[in-house]
Amino acid sequence: MTSASLNSATGPARRTVMAAAGAAGLAVALTACGSDDGSADSSDVSGSGTTQDSNGSGGAAGAGGTALAKTSEIPEGGGKIFKDQGVVVTQPTAGTYKAFSSKCTHQGCAVTSITGGAIVCPCHGSQFSVEDGSVKKGPATQPLASENVTVSGDQITLA
Ligand code: FES
Repeated sequence: MTSASLNSATGPARRTVMAAAGAAGLAVALTACGSDDGSADSSDVSGSGTTQDSNGSGGAAGAGGTALAKTSEIPEGGGKIFKDQGVVVTQPTAGTYKAFSSKCTHQGCAVTSITGGAIVCPCHGSQFSVEDGSVKKGPATQPLASENVTVSGDQITLA
């Protein structure tokens, strides 16, 4: 009598343990899938450019790079402003291309012109060098933020 009731008690108990183990196994499998996806995503991002870009100016454009211009459109010793992308691309010396954010570091106006090797903000007259975005004339005190562009053949692409 005693042993019979013991047996019937271990039966269901064992099943409960196995069911719990099954559920735990499932949870582990799901977790593994989730982290796989996560790492695949982050390697995509780092492969296509900078993490800085994907956080800041919209992931869609960052994914494959945005075709900006032909190299022939960027004047040597000057540059061109791409309003929609918020980017200035310059060619300080022949064959060297640089890119900067078009947002003035003073109070955030968009720069609108490039003259005499300087990127000019219309709001308070700050000027930035086409070579490295550094301040040539205040009131801004910080250089324009750099942007990454790649040049492939004659095509300039925003990374
Ligand atoms: Fe550009 Fe003030 S916002 S100079």
